[in-house]
Amino acid sequence: MGMKLYLSNCAHCHSWSGAGGALTDGRWAPEIHDATPREIYEAMVTGPGAMPMFSDTVITSDEKQELISYVKTLQDEPNAGGVFDLARVGQVAEGLISWTIGLALIIACAIWITAKQRAHD
Ligand code: HEC
Repeated sequence: MGMKLYLSNCAHCHSWSGAGGALTDGRWAPEIHDATPREIYEAMVTGPGAMPMFSDTVITSDEKQELISYVKTLQDEPNAGGVFDLARVGQVAEGLISWTIGLALIIACAIWITAKQRAHD
């Protein structure tokens, strides 16, 4: 229940893992791993900065409790680690990202080299 509420109301700004993320106009939703239950509640009812307000008609106070306990379980989740700590995705996902970027670089080099070759002909 808390997870559903989190994913449909918060995850598009704070990311599925609570690591935060970029918004429009260079704004940034902060990481919420250090937020206390009280801070989470206050953020929902006050809507600080670019964050919308979630009144009790949008998310009832019972639902807010569920949501807060879900954020707590996110916070208790061990960080999967990885070299770059990319949104806590872990080594395997980081490997995939590096592989994709590496492959793109190799393809870019191949295009660059052959483009120079064509200019010579
Ligand atoms: C439109 C994007 C957006 C959505 C949706 C959103 N937030 Fe936020 N949130 C923000 C931004 C931006 C801030 C930083 C506000 C500031 O201090 O300027 C923030 C701040 C917070 C903070 C305070 C973090 C800290 O350590 O000070 C908490 C906790 C938080 N949000 C929880 C939530 C929860 C829970 C939800 C879902 C009910 C949610 N947010 C939905 C954008 C969003």
